[in-house]
Amino acid sequence: APGKLWGGRFAEGIDPLMQKYNASIYYDRAFYKQDLAGSIAWARANQNRGILSAEEFSKIKKGLKEVEKEWEDGTFKIVEEKDEDIHTANERRLSEIVGKEIGGKLHTGRSRNEQVATDMRLWLVQELLKVEEFLENNIKAMAMRAEIEIEVCMPGYTHLQRAQPIRWSHWLCSYAFAFGSDLERLREVIKRVNRSPLGLGALAGNPFGVDRDAMAKELGFEGLMMNSLNGVGDRDFATETMQWAAMLMGHISRISEDLIIYSTAEFGFLKLSDAYSTGSSLMPQKKNSDSLELLRGKSGRVMGQMMGLMVTTKGLPSTYNKDLQESVEPLLDCVKTTSDSIQILTGVISTLAINPDKMLAALTPDMLATDLADYLVRKGVPFRETHHISGQVVALAEQKNMPMDQLSHGDLQSVDKRLGSDFIFDYEKSVEMRTTKGGTSKSSVQEQIAVLKKMLTGQ
Ligand code: ARG
Repeated sequence: APGKLWGGRFAEGIDPLMQKYNASIYYDRAFYKQDLAGSIAWARANQNRGILSAEEFSKIKKGLKEVEKEWEDGTFKIVEEKDEDIHTANERRLSEIVGKEIGGKLHTGRSRNEQVATDMRLWLVQELLKVEEFLENNIKAMAMRAEIEIEVCMPGYTHLQRAQPIRWSHWLCSYAFAFGSDLERLREVIKRVNRSPLGLGALAGNPFGVDRDAMAKELGFEGLMMNSLNGVGDRDFATETMQWAAMLMGHISRISEDLIIYSTAEFGFLKLSDAYSTGSSLMPQKKNSDSLELLRGKSGRVMGQMMGLMVTTKGLPSTYNKDLQESVEPLLDCVKTTSDSIQILTGVISTLAINPDKMLAALTPDMLATDLADYLVRKGVPFRETHHISGQVVALAEQKNMPMDQLSHGDLQSVDKRLGSDFIFDYEKSVEMRTTKGGTSKSSVQEQIAVLKKMLTGQ
């Protein structure tokens, strides 16, 4: 393979399709910055061990900075036959700039196996820190809305059937807490991504005594991968990120589904802003909630990427195998999709308009059947009995084809003598009864909002 970085032992050229099949430069170029920073740290560590002279180091550093400038200006020219990945591309260009004599020393003791793991981890930490902020903003937006619209009541559902009255803010907080757990998990994931494999070699370690701690520190890592076989063959950091993303996207999918239902004309609880809706090419009246449908749809893609990588890695023998290159594209896409999705959801939530009248109108007296049973409990009747009595009241109302709260005192008395006229069908009152921690009363929801805000500070 003439011209290849690893061409020494090869007599013949590579098959043209194999060349393309093998190449990762068209996507791992996303790591150009991390790759160059890793090389500078690498060169410094080698200078400290006398592998490079001070002058060689400074020329290499300057050369690498030039390569960086070319990527940034968009003038870096990929040479297809030589640049199979970002590591070879950067080294090839460095040697053109500083000469083979010096450039050829950079890779001493180093393997692309440690390089790609280093690049991916560095890139991923930086991206996940941005994602963390987007997620915090999302929780903040939900908590703020919950605070402002705390007076609004709506039906709460189980099995998508009207169940009990709740506060709209309580519903908002329910998802904010799911995202709060996602935030806690993300902070955990970042800790493990943030470990440096640099200096582990191809698989066995470094023979020149490079200072791994110093390189890790220079690059901003918080710790080291502590076993070379493990460090070059590990993609758990990518898998864990995708598992995290898959669960988060599952939450995004569920809230989207709720919002799609609530925004139908049949429900009418809320309207999406124009900024997150699209129209129909045929039906002029349509306003579709495409943002929410895409959020729901993209969750499937992220879950698939997670599964794909787990299957790719599950049967690999130890250390580096080229299969691992297949972790890069899905990771890049997963992080972008997840990051965009969080931001879109934040936009949807902060710009939608609720219709409190419609929410209130969707409440029906039978949703207080449990409260009627509880009313009798307070008079000393066993719950199993009160449940039955209240059920008979529901049945009577159904039979008379009238709302439960329209039944006369006599009607109630005909079911059970203990049903007095002091039971009031009042949704607000029902909601305000639920004052225990985590309930839907105003004070409970306010407490939830306070807990959410505290989660944002990382406590
Ligand atoms: N581009 C490769 C990857 O993404 C790294 C190169 C390692 N290749 C090798 N033959 N050891 O995994």
